Amino acid sequence: MNIVLTGFMASGKSTVGRQLSELLNRDLIDTDELIVEREGRSINDIFGKDGEEYFRRVESAVIVDAAKTDNTIISTGGGAVLNPKNMEMLRENGVIFNLDPDFSVIACRMEHAGAVRPLMRDQSLEDIRKRFDDRKPFYDNCDYKIHITADSSPRDTADKILNIINGLK
Ligand code: S3P
Repeated sequence: MNIVLTGFMASGKSTVGRQLSELLNRDLIDTDELIVEREGRSINDIFGKDGEEYFRRVESAVIVDAAKTDNTIISTGGGAVLNPKNMEMLRENGVIFNLDPDFSVIACRMEHAGAVRPLMRDQSLEDIRKRFDDRKPFYDNCDYKIHITADSSPRDTADKILNIINGLK
């Protein structure tokens, strides 16, 4: 059974994914990294030259592959939840966790996180807040929510996920 991480940009999916991968000694798949490998260029470049629709197609294609693995930690891009088919595929052999940060956590990380994220770069705080609110219903469809505050460490978050997973056995 895979452990799938979803959540808004900069919610900490990659860091928590690495933490879980170390704690459980399981492989980590980061779908954004797979996209960059497959395309041989950065996410900024893909968005800039071919647009979001094209990016979403590649994202779904790498999710098809990721969903076929077993006992893997899968960290997804923040928009993967927008396509219900992505979630359906991942759920077939996975439990889907949503990292659910207070908006203030995202606002604090924006400056640093913006450079590599086309949907965060050059956006106003209000625009990001709007996207954050618009995405909420999609994140609410995940199996479990893990609330993230400014004080949550990646280890705390990973431990919460592990407790849930252990309770499922
Ligand atoms: C996106 C999130 C990014 C990346 C792309 C689009 C989004 O991943 O997939 O820039 O739509 O939320 P992270 O959530 O890892 O930043």
